[in-house]
Amino acid sequence: KPIHVLNGPNLNLLGTREPEIYGYETLADVQARCEARAQALGLSVVFRQSNHEGQLIDWVQAARTEASALVINPAGYGHTSVALLDALKTLAIPIVECHLSNPAARESFRRETYVSLAATGVVSGFGAASYELAVEAAAGLIGASGA
Ligand code: DQA
Repeated sequence: KPIHVLNGPNLNLLGTREPEIYGYETLADVQARCEARAQALGLSVVFRQSNHEGQLIDWVQAARTEASALVINPAGYGHTSVALLDALKTLAIPIVECHLSNPAARESFRRETYVSLAATGVVSGFGAASYELAVEAAAGLIGASGA
């Protein structure tokens, strides 16, 4: 089964959205990085973005049966959404939380991260490379080495 990579609100604007914080690469660039890294590991990814909390929850629920692991950048919802946390808690597969920036080094309200309560681990602060590291971590957790 593929690794599902979910992206929350405003990440569709990546590249033009506060680039000094989030970088100049677009979400399409990030997707290409994830696909390349997954392919090198003998895996595939399903890559999705939504600005809508309910859509993200529907995709988390889909991952229950359709994914081998979940990588999620919940963006702003990570700091607010109990419903997203509740959905993630229904998953039996590994969950890697991923952020471009390092929320712990930013405003204090970004230190509250509900999603982290359900995550197997978190990759933060490496820009677009955070996603590749997250895919690699997910692959390790499901026992795919690329060898
Ligand atoms: C983010 C960090 C969040 O605090 C913020 O709300 C985002 C992006 C990141 O990838 O660095 O939208 O998840």
